[in-house]
Amino acid sequence: LELQMNLEEIEKGGYEHFMLKEIYEQPRAILDTYRGRLLADQGIVKMAGIDQHIEKFLNANRIIIVACGTSWHAGLVAEYIFEDMARIPVEVEYASEFRYRNPVITENDVLIAISQSGETADTLAAIKLAKEKGAFVFGVCNVVGSSIARETHAGAYTHAGPEIGVASTKAFTTQITVLTLIALKLAQEKGVFSESKYHEILTELESIPSKVERTLESNEIVEQISEIYKDSSNCLYLGRGYNFPVALEGALKLKEISYIHAEGYPAAEMKHGPIALIDEQMPVIVIATKKGHYEKVVSNIQEIKSRSGRIIAIVTEGDVQVRELADHVIEVPEATECLTPLLTTIPLQLLSYHIAVMRGCNVDQPRNLAKSVTVE
Ligand code: G6P
Repeated sequence: LELQMNLEEIEKGGYEHFMLKEIYEQPRAILDTYRGRLLADQGIVKMAGIDQHIEKFLNANRIIIVACGTSWHAGLVAEYIFEDMARIPVEVEYASEFRYRNPVITENDVLIAISQSGETADTLAAIKLAKEKGAFVFGVCNVVGSSIARETHAGAYTHAGPEIGVASTKAFTTQITVLTLIALKLAQEKGVFSESKYHEILTELESIPSKVERTLESNEIVEQISEIYKDSSNCLYLGRGYNFPVALEGALKLKEISYIHAEGYPAAEMKHGPIALIDEQMPVIVIATKKGHYEKVVSNIQEIKSRSGRIIAIVTEGDVQVRELADHVIEVPEATECLTPLLTTIPLQLLSYHIAVMRGCNVDQPRNLAKSVTVE
């Protein structure tokens, strides 16, 4: 037993939990995921799985993304990226719903299945169904040689390395990285962007690992904020556009490991329900980075403030407007809008981590949850 304990300590590499280690591994994991694929100076994205089947993607009527849990959130981010960059209609489905609702699938559809483990039963079943109906099926998995990697016609691995913590962190950001590379590749083939715009995004993507590194420096502030809100019984997460799925993911992380009830919402949808819950007891985490829908999010923040909600805002470095309104701000470096989820996710992971630790929860193995769900 003692030997096993020591082994685990070594595996944790000095971190108290696997989850924290994996959060900190993200700059490296993202770099490993685009290494050899993103050749920014040559203006090229190289991905064998896409290159060999490029016609399938270019001729697709639509792309259907299926996944579960955190991988489903990565799919939602990808929906915004694909539609924006590749101009192909995208639908994102929970695999468990898709497989049982007699979906309309044709040979002109491309199905992308996203799965860290590559073993999720519902996602696997959705793949089999789509294959039967003649769709081209592409996998985005982390575990090499997994069932989903074997069942799909082609795929691209994330290179996150082993993810041990049940709550997914580096798998999520590397999934977004792979999906962004695919969207960029298709955008180039379709000539959606000018050469200079294309180069600009490639170069920006290359700078993400160092920006994630900088974002991790907010750890201390996040820890202080966690101390204040650790006893909350509810939390609301709001975001818009690319950062709406990040709000969902932030809420999921908090639920999973700290057992605090949390909900993610598109910020503008707040007025259709969640606003009724806001009072001085309610922490509201708002992603309010510059660009995108900044001004609109600022007015959402004003609405929360006028109802005495406690505001924790994720803002772009140097922000002044939101700082005046919010109770707390956490800064992330400036980035092209479509890449901001890779940064805004980081403080939300840290927030759920610290709150869970402070509440004495088993961070790496939360109750009732499994790393890989191989049954329905
Ligand atoms: C479980 C895990 C989640 C994960 C989901 C999908 O619920 O606890 O962290 O996001 O399964 O798993 P997959 O391996 O398919 O990405």
